[in-house]
Amino acid sequence: MNKKRIAIFASGSGTNAQKVFEYFENHNEAEVVLLLCNKKGAGVLERAKRFGVPTFNFSREEFYNTQSVLDRLRKDKVDALVLAGFMWLIPTYLVEAFPNKIVNIHPALLPKFGGKGMYGMHVHEAVKAARESETGITIHLVNEHYDEGSILAQFSCRIEPNDSPDEIARKVQVLEHENYAKVIENLVLNKF
Ligand code: GAR
Repeated sequence: MNKKRIAIFASGSGTNAQKVFEYFENHNEAEVVLLLCNKKGAGVLERAKRFGVPTFNFSREEFYNTQSVLDRLRKDKVDALVLAGFMWLIPTYLVEAFPNKIVNIHPALLPKFGGKGMYGMHVHEAVKAARESETGITIHLVNEHYDEGSILAQFSCRIEPNDSPDEIARKVQVLEHENYAKVIENLVLNKF
């Protein structure tokens, strides 16, 4: 059987991308074949190199006004797209090319603390300011709107009253690293 072919989109440090590289490194049914990145010098590019995953850099202009990303995904026969700390809105042409096969991880319990501008530490600062007693992660399908696709899985953790935004971020990151790759596996192997 041919392995399912995964492409990861990431913009930053890439700790989640790394967990996904590790999980699929010796997997029998799926593999990571490409890392796409919109930031020159992003930490995730080094991580991809260490795992021997080819990288593809693109600009905003290329992403929104050309077919170069789609052409590359087609050339590499990609089956599913994984967003791992990728902050740009996914354009309609990609949503249509990969129906129900684009997945994102969001560092809060959607529908709370989602939408434009809600990413990274901004999310944890907003959660702290709202005096929430729990937070967590949401893994969801992607459509043309920020954080609005169907939810595939959520995992939560407690927030203690004196937890700082950094401490909240740490707890959330543990959940991300433990869970994202397994949910991706279920999606690409059609187990939902
Ligand atoms: C992760 O916490 C991810 O949930 C978040 O960016 C971080 C990337 O970290 N994504 C969003 O906020 C999307 N709205 P990483 O580069 O270490 O994987």
